[in-house]
Amino acid sequence: MIVALDVPDARSAAALTAQLEKTCQWFKVGLELFIAAGPSVVLPLVARGHSVFLDLKLHDIPNTVAAAVRSAASLGVRMVTLHAAGGPVMLAAARAALDDFENPPELLAVTVLTSMDEHQLGATGIPRSPAQQVELLAGMGLAAGVKGFVCSPKEVSALRSLTGPAGVLVVPGIRPIGAAIGDQKRIATPADALRQGASYLVVGRPITQAPDPAEAAEAILKEMAEALEPAST
Ligand code: C5P
Repeated sequence: MIVALDVPDARSAAALTAQLEKTCQWFKVGLELFIAAGPSVVLPLVARGHSVFLDLKLHDIPNTVAAAVRSAASLGVRMVTLHAAGGPVMLAAARAALDDFENPPELLAVTVLTSMDEHQLGATGIPRSPAQQVELLAGMGLAAGVKGFVCSPKEVSALRSLTGPAGVLVVPGIRPIGAAIGDQKRIATPADALRQGASYLVVGRPITQAPDPAEAAEAILKEMAEALEPAST
């Protein structure tokens, strides 16, 4: 389980991680927090032995993305995101940039943002359904040497068939039964997402907005452990 640190500044991030660090190993730092606080929020987490998912969704020319991925790897993060729509040359350059690192982060490609529907895709000149476009971009990513993807619960089983067991599928939109759905549209419970083939679950508000975040995190970890237990006969 990866907890999304969707907070505006380093002080709020420190307060939240202090509550959670005994229970949770993984933390996601996204654009809001990284633009506000930069490496100063990532480095202390890494120094305390946590695994950081740097979710910056990179999309630029190959040389720039390769250099950014190298900077992320130097910070010691364990996962970094980039847009598959950047194309095969950009993805391959990002992959090659990690060759010099002994313990490189996993590159995760974002295929189609969950905010995009068929109409939005059409407006950008892509005459396909989101599902078709996800499949096309995932195939392209795999061919370029990227085996990790961020995907919605709705896409996880199709992507798992495409990647096989080696794929690293990171799935947001997780809501334990009874949790507020908020603005998420394609949701799954932790157990369902795991059964459909997720490797990691990203959980934000069900933990960060809970009256007791550590207790909420423990309950989700317990549900995950139960889902992974072999079915009793
Ligand atoms: O609060 P919640 O559990 O909805 O947070 C989910 C996290 O996953 C947020 O940081 C959100 O930006 C991220 N995310 C997402 N959907 C995607 C990609 C990332 O919800 N397709």
